[in-house]
Amino acid sequence: MRVTITGASGNAGQAVSRLIAEAGFEVRMADMAPPARDIAALGEFVRCDTRTPTDVQRAIEGADAVVHLAAWHSAHRPPVSDATIFAVNVDGTFNVLEACRAEGVAAVVFASSMAYGWGGVYSATKVIGEELCRAYHEMTGASVAMLRYHEFIPAPYLEYGPRLLRNGVDRSDVAAATLAALRAAIERKVELFRTIVHTNHGMPPAVVDDFRRLGPDWCEQQVPGARELIDQYELQLPARVEQHDLSEAERILGWRPKISFLDFLRDLKARDARREDVRALIVPGALPG
Ligand SMILES: NC(=O)c1ccc[n+]([C@@H]2O[C@H](COP(=O)([O-])OP(=O)(O)OC[C@H]3O[C@@H](n4cnc5c(N)ncnc54)[C@H](O)[C@@H]3O)[C@@H](O)[C@H]2O)c1
Repeated sequence: MRVTITGASGNAGQAVSRLIAEAGFEVRMADMAPPARDIAALGEFVRCDTRTPTDVQRAIEGADAVVHLAAWHSAHRPPVSDATIFAVNVDGTFNVLEACRAEGVAAVVFASSMAYGWGGVYSATKVIGEELCRAYHEMTGASVAMLRYHEFIPAPYLEYGPRLLRNGVDRSDVAAATLAALRAAIERKVELFRTIVHTNHGMPPAVVDDFRRLGPDWCEQQVPGARELIDQYELQLPARVEQHDLSEAERILGWRPKISFLDFLRDLKARDARREDVRALIVPGALPG
């Protein structure tokens, strides 16, 4: 099975390409920028600007499935203009789906976003992207899975952890959800499917609703020493935890997130015991290995 992954050199793209290659698929990585050497070794790299139809056709030629990640989002520093975001995310997605149609690609995974419907240009591009995917499914009968990823932008370690309680998700869970969606699309377990990709802390509802008051004690029960770590590192905890119902993704894709705030606390506890300087640590939206 040959899978083209657009945006393969990016943050999600690296983790997704690695996992899909390790699962035994033949990967073709398509991006404007070449991937890092260890990622390039996973398969073939095709330089491709998704705004250019002939680039995209070359990247998708012979593919059985496509994972379309290439996009700009509003959090890039220095920022990318709205016009570029629109062109890459909308024209790029149109070109990818047109090339899929020409090639008869029957399984597509599309990187949507929690920003769907928020307003703003980036959000609008994900609304249009999902609509283009729906049209592709209706015109061709292909299986299409659209994943509304939550946030995994690279961040300081001490911000990444508490972010999991808000809108954050670990990049490894993003990659695992994408592989599960790819398999489901190839096996035609889904027709047109959309789901949220976020974190699950396994927390009682009362703690979710009143995390600032009840959270530190609950964390202490799960990870002894948690309360002291929260104070020592001045972790910024939310008043309530953002928690979505992820049961549909588990039922249909067989995917559930693995990394929660408790895993972050266990990791922090181990680093603290080793006297690591975690205040200077930047992570790629994932627990460091
Ligand atoms: N990072 C997040 O928190 C987040 C959250 C929700 C959704 N998403 C979506 O997930 C996907 C991946 O995001 P990411 O954080 O890995 O982004 P990223 O910026 O790390 O990577 C994007 C990749 O796309 C490539 N790219 C940009 N324009 C291109 C073009 N015209 N042609 C080909 N390649 C191009 C870039 O070179 C880069 O390698 C995107 O669709 C994004 O909108 C990301």
